[in-house]
Amino acid sequence: MILLTGGAGYIGSHMLCELLEANHDVIILDNLSNSSVEAVKRVESLTNKHCTFIEGDIRDRQLLDDIFSQHSIDSVLHFAGLKAVGESAEKPLMYFENNITGSLVLLEAMKAANVKKIVFSSSATVYGDPEQLPITEDCPTSMPTNPYGYTKLAVEQMMMQLVQSDPAWSVAALRYFNPVGAHSSGMIGEDPQGVPNNLLPYIAQVSVGRRDKLSVYGNDYDTHDGTGVRDYIHVVDLAKGHLRALDYIADKTGYFVWNLGTGNGFSVLDMVKAFENASGKKIPYQVVDRREGDIAACFADPKKAAVELGWTTQKNIDDMMEDTWRWQSQNPQGYGN
Ligand code: NAD
Ligand code: WQD
Repeated sequence: MILLTGGAGYIGSHMLCELLEANHDVIILDNLSNSSVEAVKRVESLTNKHCTFIEGDIRDRQLLDDIFSQHSIDSVLHFAGLKAVGESAEKPLMYFENNITGSLVLLEAMKAANVKKIVFSSSATVYGDPEQLPITEDCPTSMPTNPYGYTKLAVEQMMMQLVQSDPAWSVAALRYFNPVGAHSSGMIGEDPQGVPNNLLPYIAQVSVGRRDKLSVYGNDYDTHDGTGVRDYIHVVDLAKGHLRALDYIADKTGYFVWNLGTGNGFSVLDMVKAFENASGKKIPYQVVDRREGDIAACFADPKKAAVELGWTTQKNIDDMMEDTWRWQSQNPQGYGN
């Protein structure tokens, strides 16, 4: 059985879908601080399979002890966490408490239950402003410019030292680039609360009239059209990467890091055009100042995951846009419908 923390969230719900389709038994622990249980119900109806859902917090040690004693858990997929970069700059202690303390409590409970396999949702943000492109896993990490990024680096480093202290652990840190898209059914997708921080959810909300226009944060970067370039990865490809990582660590111990990206970079304006093509909707935009903390370009070298995990992305930019459009047009208010 797999414990999936944060399984009601955007990436977690797509992960749940892949896990259930691969016939895994899954128990979700999510406090619903940024998600809806509706996502879990929809995955169950999509797959015609069931999981156990527990509404609760990864910082609740007693609850974790109960979960580990009542279920025979082999590995943990750890997605639970807060992820808004801007909010983290305003409330750093909340981010440290939730993401770092939460992960620490989880690791302590795992140790007590002798469950020593974990796949962790890390982020390309740990590379900071990259020294080289594409980014390989041996590029140096750097002190992130925001507290959210710091929590990812801190948890990675905690787990690395844990493995050094006890070689029975098996830890995979997956560094995601920019996850986008939705399940091809249109039944689950990204449903940010309030004003979206990320590019594609913002574009998608403009397309259904929830926002007037997109603000493009700067067009004077050193990129092909001056706007920021990122490595957007389809959330279903991303989830499949976790299944491969889970398989990989099943019979190995140690600390492993893999980039999960496509290796391709798209600019903000490329994204606008691709979304317009997929949706037939015009996306009005206005160029504004750069957003503080943004970098010009960031994209992965995904070779290590290809060689070691046998994983490569299958979905292209048009799939990402078509699936986002299907989800957003079928669920203009997200799960609030
Ligand atoms: P999300 O907010 O949709 O999902 C996170 C889930 O964790 C939510 O369902 C939330 O309710 C739950 N949660 C938060 N704190 C919790 C706690 N203390 N106890 C129990 N549940 C808690 O975000 P997502 O986009 O699905 O991201 C999943 C993971 O991937 C996060 O760790 C995030 O930092 C990481 N990540 C996301 C991105 C991205 O761009 N979406 C990129 C890199 C890494
Ligand atoms: C993408 C591009 C913006 C919004 C963030 C986190 C990172 C990771 C993924 C979790 C940039 C531009 C955006 C808008 C815009 N999350 N943009 N107008 O900043 O690459 O990464 O999410 O780990 O840690 O920092 O993603 O989607 O916010 O921005 O012009 O309204 O779109 O400047 O070039 P980012 P993003």
